[in-house]
Amino acid sequence: MLTSLFKNIVYPPKSVSNKKLSEAFAGKWVVITGASSGIGEALTLRLIEAKANLFLIARNEEKLVQLCNKARGNGCEARYKTIDLRQRDELDAWCETLKEELPAVSFLFCNAGKSIKRSISLSLDRMHDFDRTIDLNYRSMVSLSLALMPSLRNAGGSIVYTSSVSSRYPFAPGWSAYHASKCAANAWCRTARHERKKLGVKVQVAYIPLVHTPMSDVNETYKNLPAYSADEAACILLKLAMSKRFRYKPWWAL
Ligand SMILES: NC(=O)c1ccc[n+]([C@@H]2O[C@H](COP(=O)([O-])OP(=O)(O)OC[C@H]3O[C@@H](n4cnc5c(N)ncnc54)[C@H](OP(=O)(O)O)[C@@H]3O)[C@@H](O)[C@H]2O)c1
Repeated sequence: MLTSLFKNIVYPPKSVSNKKLSEAFAGKWVVITGASSGIGEALTLRLIEAKANLFLIARNEEKLVQLCNKARGNGCEARYKTIDLRQRDELDAWCETLKEELPAVSFLFCNAGKSIKRSISLSLDRMHDFDRTIDLNYRSMVSLSLALMPSLRNAGGSIVYTSSVSSRYPFAPGWSAYHASKCAANAWCRTARHERKKLGVKVQVAYIPLVHTPMSDVNETYKNLPAYSADEAACILLKLAMSKRFRYKPWWAL
């Protein structure tokens, strides 16, 4: 009883009607990174219901094929790309072909991400932790955004970045790699917001609180805490994308 009261206060329920989603997304091209699991998969399922055309990106091919088949079965156009978004050269080369392939994109959800919790004192021989978080959580978002900017402009489109509310408290012990990468992306988005007139593209950030997904459930403590479901987090991203607001943050976040 007390737990559910706490959950409803800290994590007020999130939903969005399929009718509203169809009005906003049907027939439009939507690119989603990290579509194979957790929040990205939930987002994809919602957009399939809304009859959006989907371009899905992740490494797990079996899952992307399954989602594309489901999308096509529901009358959507669907394509996918399996790529490790940390591989800079491969990503940059592919971005060149992607912009030709998708001349008009209405929404780019930059959602793929990886969290690492490890103190700096335990990271002395682990520079790769800092490289892989920055490459996935920050650099891949910038690379895809730059490549798709003309396509987004052609469609009056938006970029929506899945950030974390914890990056608003970046001094939390153990989170130096994750928070630094998320803060870099936050800063890029905030700058893009102020350059919007020249860019011609809306950029939005969602500071998402805890969500039960394969990423967070690795941590036993988080697994047992109240949190949003992946579908609720997807609803937060979709509502933000449909709005004129720059950001989503929970009411309690300073
Ligand atoms: N869960 C939370 O509590 C929480 C809270 C705030 C923000 N977030 C953010 O939400 C986003 C989604 O996370 P999630 O919780 O849904 O985690 P998840 O279930 O682990 O999903 C992560 C997604 O990112 C993709 N990905 C990971 N590494 C990749 C790589 N090297 N190249 C390409 N794709 C890669 C994964 O696909 P493959 O493995 O198939 O490549 C997967 O689709 C992340 O940006 C995360 O930082 C999560």
